[in-house]
Amino acid sequence: MPENSAETLQKRIEERLRYYEDLGIKLFYKNRSGSGLARANGTSGPAASIPIVSEEELSLRKPVSQPQPQSHSAKPPVVPPSIAPAGVSLFTDVQKIKDDTLLKIREDIGECIRCKLHKGRNKIVFGDGNPKARLVFVGEAPGADEDKQGIPFVGRAGKLLTQMIEAMGLERQDVYICNVVKCRPPDNRKPEDDEVSTCSPYLLRQLDTIEPKVLVCLGAVAAQTLLETNRGISQFRGEWMEWRGHKLMATYHPAYLLRNPAAKADVWKDLQKVMAELGLQLPKKSKS
Ligand code: URA
Repeated sequence: MPENSAETLQKRIEERLRYYEDLGIKLFYKNRSGSGLARANGTSGPAASIPIVSEEELSLRKPVSQPQPQSHSAKPPVVPPSIAPAGVSLFTDVQKIKDDTLLKIREDIGECIRCKLHKGRNKIVFGDGNPKARLVFVGEAPGADEDKQGIPFVGRAGKLLTQMIEAMGLERQDVYICNVVKCRPPDNRKPEDDEVSTCSPYLLRQLDTIEPKVLVCLGAVAAQTLLETNRGISQFRGEWMEWRGHKLMATYHPAYLLRNPAAKADVWKDLQKVMAELGLQLPKKSKS
C-alpha cells in the first residue's frame, strides 16, 4: 500500500482522533464512524478532516535571514532557587558561542568518552528536527530504541510524544527534540549528576544555537537541570518560566503518561499554553 494512500491518511487521522479522545477532548469532528470522517462544517472525506491550521501557523520555521525577536511582553516569572553551589550556575553565567552551529556541536561531541555512559552506549543520540525550530522539546536521556537508532524519542514514549506534537497541529520535523544526556544510562536509570554536568554544556549550545521561542521540558530531569532546581516538577509544571531569554514550560514526561494516563489532561493543558504562545490555533470545537 502506498504511504500516502487515502487509506493510510484515514488511519493516521483515526489514530490522531483516538489520541484527542484520550485527552478528553471532544474535538472538531462530528462523526468518526465509517469511512466518511465528517467535519463540523459538513464537509466530508479524509482530506477535509484535517484540522484547519494555516500553513503559516503550522510552520514553526524561522526565516533564516530574519531572526525573530525573543522579547516577551509578559514579565518573566521568578526562577526557582538554584541547586548549584552558591555563585556557580551551569547556564546563566555562560556566554553564547558566536557562530555556533548544530554541526559544530555534534563534531565537538565526537565519539565522546567524557563520562561513564559511553561504556554502554550503542549510538550517541544528539537531537532531531528543525534546526530553526521555534519549539524545542527536551527529554531526559535516550532509551533502548533511541540508543539503537541514534534518534531521540522513537520508542513507546516517543510515539506518544509524536502524537502530542501532532495534536498541537504540528509534525515532528517542525520542532526540535533532544535530551539532557546524549547516551543511554544503563537499565534506563536516571542520569547521575556528573553525567548531567558533563553533557549539559552541549544541550546549552544546542538551545543557544536554535534559539527557540519556547522550550518544553519533558519530565523532572530536563526541568530541574535547566532551571537548576531540585523542586518537584509538580510544583511548577504548567507555569511559564524563563530560561536564558526563552520561555520554558515544564510538563510531565511521556513515559510517565504511559504509566499514568490520567495525567494526559494536565499535559494537554500545558501544551495548549505553548500553542497560544506560538500563535497556534486550537482546532475548532464541534457543536455536537
Ligand atoms: N525518554 C527520553 O527522555 N528521551 C528519549 O529520547 C527517549 C525516552
